[in-house]
This record gives sequence, structure tokens and C-alpha cells, in this order.
Amino acid sequence: MKLRFDYNNMMADVIGDRGIDAGKLGENAGRIGAAFEDVLANCGKGWQEWSELPYIDYSSLDGMIAKMSEIRKKASAFVVLGIGGSALGPISVVQALLDMRLNEQPASALKSAGLPKLYIEDNIDPERMHGLLGLIDLKTTYFNVITKSGETSETLAQFLVLYDLMKKAVGKEEARKHFIATTTIGKGTLYALAQKEGFDTYGIGPGVGGRFSVLSNVGLVPFAVMGIDIKKLLAGAKEMSEACRVSDIKKNPALMTAFLQCMAMEKGANISVMMPYADSLKYMSDFYCQIWAESLGKAKDKDGKTVNVGQTPAKALGVTDQHSQVQLYTEGPYDKVVTFLAVDKFRNDVAIPSDPDIDACDFLKGHTMGELLNAERVATEYALRKAGRMSFTVTLPEVNEETVGELLAYYMYETAFAGAYLNINTFNQPGVEEGKKATFAMLGRKGYEEKLAEVRSAAKKPEYYI
Ligand code: PA5
Repeated sequence: MKLRFDYNNMMADVIGDRGIDAGKLGENAGRIGAAFEDVLANCGKGWQEWSELPYIDYSSLDGMIAKMSEIRKKASAFVVLGIGGSALGPISVVQALLDMRLNEQPASALKSAGLPKLYIEDNIDPERMHGLLGLIDLKTTYFNVITKSGETSETLAQFLVLYDLMKKAVGKEEARKHFIATTTIGKGTLYALAQKEGFDTYGIGPGVGGRFSVLSNVGLVPFAVMGIDIKKLLAGAKEMSEACRVSDIKKNPALMTAFLQCMAMEKGANISVMMPYADSLKYMSDFYCQIWAESLGKAKDKDGKTVNVGQTPAKALGVTDQHSQVQLYTEGPYDKVVTFLAVDKFRNDVAIPSDPDIDACDFLKGHTMGELLNAERVATEYALRKAGRMSFTVTLPEVNEETVGELLAYYMYETAFAGAYLNINTFNQPGVEEGKKATFAMLGRKGYEEKLAEVRSAAKKPEYYI
């Protein structure tokens, strides 16, 4: 395992009595052990099929990789259509591993890098769609429609708009070659459409839920198009998976931080801030927010008891949010745990020059921007510790396929362990499904007439309007 985990600043003997007493580990050993066994016993079963993705035979990916590299050669733009778990994993990984200014590169630079522009469209804002249409040349644009259920209104709407335009631009026979479907094989509207229209189709295992799907074809297909080494990504995830399958909590980072977060919740820290100190990891916060919120925010526990649990995830970016949110974190309510993501070595660093005419900035000279960023992180960790606030730091030696794979696997196991510890169903999302059904009803989908009546009858008091 390449990632390092420092949880000193979670502990009472380091930050004072707002921290977690080290004795809690022993006191809760039985419950921790049961949560560990629960997750381990279910690896590869039911909704835990995600845990086996890093263990597949990597040569089984060769055919897909070859096909996607053909698309890479002919595409000027590659557009992913998806939402929630069908978008946030891909967004977080491409931000980490591709040039973050890829789409701003001139066509000549993209051509010599052999890469298309990449757009991941995870909303249905018509102005955004309009903007995209102004940017892409349909004749050389390829689309990957991703929906596990095959039924999500947002993704289907995007698909309908773009397939219609593509057919008009290049004709039906050619249009179908511009669309790749990623969905559950044999189920749902997208699968049926893909079969009918003859799209190249990739499956998502039945037991791989949206927010746990980044290492399935949901992520692997677009990553392969963009030339990301998906075997290394999976190998990194496998390495972390091995660490997360060790029963000793002191050697298992996901089990340890899951437990500490649950202890923090017991102490009233119901907000979990993810704060990377690297723009490349900025959207890891979005990935984390979804997996933590949708998996742990539950009304009932597994015994049917009303628990209304969950820790609200929040996003911050170092150093940007030092000048926006850190004041609240150090002096506001004791209701947060901050996770810092640190990077030892940046792929490119920039030296800060010394200017003999500007001695007011002497303290900066001889340093690099990367050093400054890391010094500010350490300073923020210190400020929080001094104020008795809980935080822990996950360090990536550098950002590459292997460390990103490790980070993703860590988040998945941490969530699974926390859910098991809280005795809730980590892998369902009844709150999201309810909204999906209400949308179908309001749009007049057949079979949702009763739901429409229910939505319409929801009480709305006329005096509460302005
Ligand atoms: O984690 C989940 O299950 C959800 O966030 C889904 O990913 C999201 O609702 C999109 O669903 P689908 O992939 O079926 O379009």
C-alpha cells in the first residue's frame, strides 16, 4: 500500500477531550470485529460485487482497451452522459489523471497528444447542453451513455437529444457507431435501445451499485478511451483491498477511519469535510460526498428500527477554502471531522523566483508552489489541532493510476465498514428512488398514475406562497 494514514489528530490524547479516547477501540472491539466480518463475509456477494472488480483477470480487458483506443484515434471529443454514480467516479479519476486543462489545449496540442477533448455531462441544464453543442463537431464526437438501471430520466433525455442530432448530422447507419452504452445487460430501457440500434454495449455487474461502480465498465470504458492505464488503476485498488481485508484495525486504514468517524458522530461531529490539497484530487470530494451520503444516510437500521443516521459530507479545497471555510472549522461548532488529502510530490512543480527588488516576499523565495501548498496544509492541520478539532490526513506519495486506485478502494471499504458498524443497509438508496419515481409520474410515464396522484395530493398550503 502506497497511501499513508495519520489519525493522530482524531485522538483525545493529542487534541484534548473533544477527540476520541484511545480506550474506545478496546471497548468497541466486538462491534468493530462484527462489522469487519460482515463486510468480508459478503465480498463478491449481493451488492458487494464491487469488491471483486480489482481481482478480475486483467487480460479480459484487452479487447475493450483496443476498441477504445480506436475511438481515441478518431475522436475530436468524447462525451460521457450519466449522473450520480454513473458520472462522479469518472469525473474524479479523469481530473486526477489527465491534464486538468485538457479541453483548453489547442487542437494541435491535442492531436500530438493523441487525445480527444472530454466532457462528462452529469446534468440536464439546457444552457449547459446548448453550450456543449456549440463546442463539439458531431461528426467526430463519440458518446458513452452510462446508466446502470437504464431508466434514469436525465441520462435518457440527454441521449435522446444527442442521438437525434447525430442522426441528422451523419445519418442513422453512421450515428449508431458514435454511441457506446454501459448498462445492466438484459435489463432496462437503455439496454433494449442499444440492442435495437446496434450500439457497442458494455455491462455493469448486477451487484455493482452506482456509487461503487467506478472500477467497472462505468469508469473503465471512458478511462480506456482517454488512454488511462486501467490495469494499474485496478492493481492499485487491489493493493488497498488487501490492506482493507486485514482484521487488525491498527493495520486496516478503512476500518480504522470508519470506526473513528462513527465515534466522531457519537460525539456530535455530524459533518465530514473532505479537503484535498491538490486540484487534481478536487473531485475526489464529490466522489466521497456521494458514497458517504447516499450509503450512510438512512432512516432505518437492518432491524427495522428508526435511526435516521448519516454524517453530512462537505467539500473543501486546500488552499482555496482556507480563505473561505477554515475560520468556521477552527472556531465554529465542534460538529466536523476534516479529512485532508495530501500529495508528497507534484507531477510538475513551479519554483518561486527570487526578485532582488522585492524583498518583502523574501520568505517565499527558494521554495516551490508545491512546498507552499504542503506547508499551508500542515499549518491548517496544526491550527485545527490547536483548536481541539478532529482531523486526519491521507497522503498520496504522488497522484498516479495506482495511488488513485488505492484511494477509490479505500473510500469504498471505509463506507462499507461504517455502514456495517451502524447496522444499516449501505447499498440501497430508497430516498433517491422515490424522487426518480416521482419524476416519472410527473412526466406522465405509463404505470406511474398512482404515484402521480400521490405527488399531486401532497399537501400544499396556499398561505405559504409569496
Ligand atoms: O449510487 C447510485 O445508485 C445512484 O447515485 C445512481 O448512480 C444514480 O441515481 C444514477 O443511476 P443510473 O446509473 O441507474 O442511471
